Amino acid sequence: MAITIKSAREIELMRESNKRIAEVHKAMEEMIKPGITTWEIDAFAEKIIRGMGCIPNFKNYHGYPASVCCSVNDEVVHGIPKKERVLQEGDIISLDAGLIYKGYHSDAARTHAVGKVAPEVLKLMEVTKQSFFEGIKYAMAGHHVYEISNAIDAYVSQFGYGIVYDLTGHGIGRELHEGPEIPNFKQRSKGPKLRTGMTLAIEPMITMGRPDVEWLDDDWTVVTEDGSWAAHYENTILITDGEPEILTLY
Ligand code: MF3
Ligand code: CO
Repeated sequence: MAITIKSAREIELMRESNKRIAEVHKAMEEMIKPGITTWEIDAFAEKIIRGMGCIPNFKNYHGYPASVCCSVNDEVVHGIPKKERVLQEGDIISLDAGLIYKGYHSDAARTHAVGKVAPEVLKLMEVTKQSFFEGIKYAMAGHHVYEISNAIDAYVSQFGYGIVYDLTGHGIGRELHEGPEIPNFKQRSKGPKLRTGMTLAIEPMITMGRPDVEWLDDDWTVVTEDGSWAAHYENTILITDGEPEILTLY
C-alpha cells in the first residue's frame, strides 16, 4: 500500500474527519454499562456518524457487516456487534470505529471497563494506552517506523504482556489502510522514514497472556489462542517536524 503525504488542505480534512470520530467515541463511552448489547452500541454510533453527514468506513469494508468493531474480553479486535451480546459487570470492551468525511478517513479505538473490573485488567488497559504514548515519542519527521515499534515493545514487555504480531497500525488518508505498516513489536529493519504530512493510525493490541491469536468462524473476530483478555488503543496522528498532532483525542 502506498504511503501518502497530505497537503495542507488534506491535513485540514483529516483533522475534521478524526475530530468527528473522537466525538462518536465519546458518545459510545457514555453508553457503556452492564446490560447494554454490542448491537445497540453499533446502531447508536452509526446513527451519529450518518447524522454528521459522514459514512461509517468499516461498514462493508471487505464485507465487514457493521460500523463499529466491538471486541469483548478475549476478543482482541474485529468483534461483530450482536443483539445477543450483552455486556456484564467486569467485562472489558474494545470499540474500534472510523468514518469518511469529504473523502478522508478517520480511525480510533478505545478499551472500556464495564462497571468494576479486576485490578490486573485495569493495569492491562493502562499499559496498552501508555504504550501508544511511548511509541509516539518517536513519531516525528526524520525518525523511522521501527523506533515507534521498538518503543512500544520495550515498554509493554516489562509487564510480561503479549504483543499481538498478526495485526499492525497503518497509514490512513483517502484509504482506511495505506502504507506504512506500523508493527507494535520489535523490528530489525528500520522501515520507512517518517515525513511531515504523513497521517498514521497507531494501534497497540496487547494481551495478558501469549501474543498468539486466531480467527473465529465468522471470519472476522480475532481472539487470543490462550483465552487471555486483550486491550486495544488507537489514535490517528499527524507527523510534523516536532511533536505529532493526535487527531482523535476527546
Ligand atoms: N480499525 C481497524 C484497523 O485499524 C479496521 C477494522 S476492519 C473493518 O485496521 F473491517 F472492520 F473495518
Ligand atoms: Co486502524
